Parts: sequence; structure tokens; C-alpha cells
Amino acid sequence: MRRLIFILPLLLFTTCKKQPTQPTGLVTENAMVVTARAEASKIGSDIMEKGGNAFDAMVATELALAVAYPYAGNLGGGGFMVYRKNNGEVGGIDYREKAPLSAHKDMYLDSLGNVISKMSTVGATAVGVPGTVAGVIAVHEKFGSLPLSDLIEPVIALARKGVIVTEKQLQRITHYKESFVEVNGDSTKFAQPFSVGDTIKYPKLAQTLTQILEKGRDGFYKGEVAEKLSSFIQEKGGFVTMADLEKYEAKWRDPIVFDYKELKMISMSPPSSGGVTINQIFKMMEPHDIGSFGHNSSKSIQLFTEAARRAYADRNYFLGDPDFVDIPFDVLLDDTYLEERMADFSFEKASLSSAIGHGEVEILESSETTHYSIVDDAGNAISATTTLNGGYGSKLYSEDLGFFLNNEMDDFSAKPGVPNMFGLIGAEANSIAPEKRMLSSMTPTIVEKEGKLYMVVGTPGGSTIITAVAQTILNVYEFNQSMQEAVNSPRFHHQWLPDHINFEPEGFSKELKDELKSKGYNIDEKRNPVIGKVDAIRVLENGKLEGGADRRGDDTAVGF
Ligand code: DON
Repeated sequence: MRRLIFILPLLLFTTCKKQPTQPTGLVTENAMVVTARAEASKIGSDIMEKGGNAFDAMVATELALAVAYPYAGNLGGGGFMVYRKNNGEVGGIDYREKAPLSAHKDMYLDSLGNVISKMSTVGATAVGVPGTVAGVIAVHEKFGSLPLSDLIEPVIALARKGVIVTEKQLQRITHYKESFVEVNGDSTKFAQPFSVGDTIKYPKLAQTLTQILEKGRDGFYKGEVAEKLSSFIQEKGGFVTMADLEKYEAKWRDPIVFDYKELKMISMSPPSSGGVTINQIFKMMEPHDIGSFGHNSSKSIQLFTEAARRAYADRNYFLGDPDFVDIPFDVLLDDTYLEERMADFSFEKASLSSAIGHGEVEILESSETTHYSIVDDAGNAISATTTLNGGYGSKLYSEDLGFFLNNEMDDFSAKPGVPNMFGLIGAEANSIAPEKRMLSSMTPTIVEKEGKLYMVVGTPGGSTIITAVAQTILNVYEFNQSMQEAVNSPRFHHQWLPDHINFEPEGFSKELKDELKSKGYNIDEKRNPVIGKVDAIRVLENGKLEGGADRRGDDTAVGF
């Protein structure tokens, strides 16, 4: 009897853990798209309902986000996508912006060697060579099953019909209005007085998209659009030329693939730091049974924080564009190395980032990138994250072409040791060079469980992207949450430097924070930013799909 009393809770616990978690998000039978706007999700889903595959849907969804979500969706930016085909084949494409040919290491420094304020963040000087159009065209050429016109026509129709201003969108536009005027003058499109419920039409963007529909990649990187784009950027003082546009190429890259317990994770490789960094975080946590510590308990927060602290320190030092720097993957991802990195970790006391590195930096609140997840009815999966970097990028808006330009040059390390807008401190590996790609944190990820598709996940959030993706996966796998619950759950973040934990405003008690403080953790009490805006899909045990569309935005799952 005594033994039974002892074993019963254990038995109950293990059985609970094995119970399939009931879905709480949208459930569909066949296919699903989850994005930052219902209009873009619907366009992607409709493409699949008409017989297109996940890759066709990706092309349409990516371009539709440029119309429906100009805050981050883009033609003037770039991104990363990883895929897993239904036969288990995986791959990735890098359509990240790159530095113009005239770029050089010290281009954002003054004569005294100090970083010139705003030069890499606001206006034309911040613009890197856009990659999005090259990315979607390369995906279509390799995997598309429908003609390009079938994919782009609905997007052009959306641009002509217009998109309704939501409450959240109005807040964003209002927040940035002054910068729009500062960069573009007061007659610029987005400085007009909008109200919730207004429809914004994009006739110029529709014309640009028509060029892409008719000429493919050349409709953007050569001819009329390229001429207008390069001369506009240069007139405004920027560096992107016709030659830069013509030379731009998206690159197929092998994703980072690693095991965590019974899961296999497939995530983006450099020039995104996402895959390497979550690989390190998961492997450093793996020896512990985090699932038994409790969701967002002080013990699980400690373990996660210590793994993230060490992984971000490596990220900032070693990672950069693999075409320019040698990245010691075999060491960074080696099990013994990662075990050694955690050798000094104890649940009794916080480690100190100063013992691992130096620096005093601020991290900024942000959710200005955008992620979308797609699964088609054949089981092909797409995980894509795309960005202009800051909200509306550099704020530079081409009235003539109908889109914003990125400020991705700020993702380079303008000067070693000086933080960028996400408080990330870079090193030589991420210094500026002509045609080099700036290091990213974007972490589009696909997870397999026991050889089958299990989850598609990603988020915006600058430097917090990596931790938000990792926590969402843990929420489902270790803490038995549904996809929607996992996305909704409160998140926290630590990125080595600054040496403090940021917590979202809700979901973390004073007692919990006090306990962490008593162990030596610094908690940023002043800033409780929203961390990430995750859009994800989980494959249920019965093969149906559950969407996780982040409550923090207008994000919506659509499927059939
Ligand atoms: O590539 C990167 O890591 C950044 N440019 C992402 C920017 C971002 O997520 C902004 N929104 N939070």
C-alpha cells in the first residue's frame, strides 16, 4: 500500500505526459497557413485549395504580406525559409539582404571612429540590397507547381482592392508617423491621417508586382523597377546601385539539423544565427528533465537562461556570413563542448555574463519582423521569416514603387563591441564587407517527432527570436501545451549581454522573480516588452493540423 501511494503520483504524471494535448487553436483537416494578417493567410490557403503546394503558397503568402503587413512584410527586405518535404527531404533558402558593392568595414564610423547615430538605422544609408523577390522566384523555379501568374494575381488584386486598417496597425503607423515624415516628407503615403476601418489601397505596389509577374526576377532586379529603385535610394544618399541589384542572388543552404530527445529540429543556418543558437540551447538543456520542473518555474527559467547566456556569447563572437568567415561548426555543435560550457552551471546560483564576456548594452522592444508557417495537404512544410529589420525598415518609402526599404545594414557589427539596435554586440565575424550578408537571428524552424512532421514554428523579435522559438517548442513538447497555448504563453529572454532577464508584462509573479533574484539573477524591472509574435502549426496525432496564431498581433490561421 505504502509503495502504491508513492508510485501513484509518478504513474499519474507519466500518463498525463503521454496524453495527447487537446488543441485550442484552429484545427483543419488538410492544410494551413498562419501569418500576421488574415488576408495573407487566406491567399496562401486558397492557393493550396486550388491545388498548389506549400511552396506555391509560400510565394503568394510572402508577397501578400508585403501588401497586407507593410510593417515587416516586404519587397524591400529579405528573409530565410526552411522546408521539409513530405518524403522527409529538408532544405533552406537564404534571401537575406547583402551589403552593397561600395560598402566597407568603417562605413558607419565618423573620423574619430565613433558610430554615426542613425546612419545604419534610418533612411537610405541603412538600406541593404533586397532579397525577397529573388527568394520567392528561386523557390517557385525549384518547387512551384502552379504558374507564377496564379500565385501573384491574387496578391495584385489585394493591392488594388486594399487592406483594412486594424487597431494594432493604426497604433504602429501613428507611432512611426514622425519618422515617415522625417525621411520622406509630409506628403508621404503613410503620414496621412488614417482611422481604424479605413482601406489602404496600393496601386503602385500592384504595378511593381505586375512587373514581377511578367518578368520574374528581372522584373525587380533589372529594367524599370531596378532603375527607379537604385536611383531613388542614391538620390536619398544611399549606396544600392543597379549593379548591386543585378548581382543579387538568393542562396540555397543546408539547414542546421539536430536531435533533442525524440525530436529532430531543422532550423536556419548562417548567415542566420538561429539554427546554431537554438541547437546549442537545446543541447545544453537536454541532460535535464525540464518537463518535470514545471512551465515557467524558477528552475526551468534558470536552466533556459543559463543555456541561452552561453549560446548568445558564442553567437556574437563566432557567427557571420559563412561565405566570408570560417565558422567552427564542429566545435560549436559538439556534444562534449556544450557539456563543458554548462559544467559550471548550478541551480544554486546564477552564472555571471561578465565571466563569459564584457559589455553594457540596452535591448529594445520589437516585433517588427514577420513569420509565417505553412503545411499543405500532402504534408510538405514551410517555415519562413521575413523582415525589413526595424518597423517599416529604414522608413524610406518609394511612392513610385509602393514599398518600404529595409534598414538591415544595422544587423552588421558597425564597430566591434558597440551594440546594434537589438543590443547585440558583434565581433569581427559580423563586420561589414562588400556583398556580405549581415548576421540574423531569424529562426524559421521545423520539428519532426519520431520521423514525422510535428511542428512548424517561427517568430519576429530581433534578438529575442531564438529564445521565443525555443520556448514555444518546449511548451508543446515538455509542458504539454496545445499549439495555441504554447504561442500564447508568457515568455522571457536572456541574451548573455546585457546580463539580465526580461519578462513579458504578464504571467510571472513577484515571488518567482524574488526567488530568481535571491539566486543572483538580474531582472530588468523597467522593461517588460512583448517578446516575439509566434505563428506556428502542430500536427496532431490524428493527422489534423492545429494553428497557433499569436494573440499579441492580428495573426490568423486559415486552412481547410
Ligand atoms: O535578422 C534579424 O535578426 C533582425 N533583422 C530581425 C529583426 C526583427 O525581428 C525585428 N523585429 N522584432
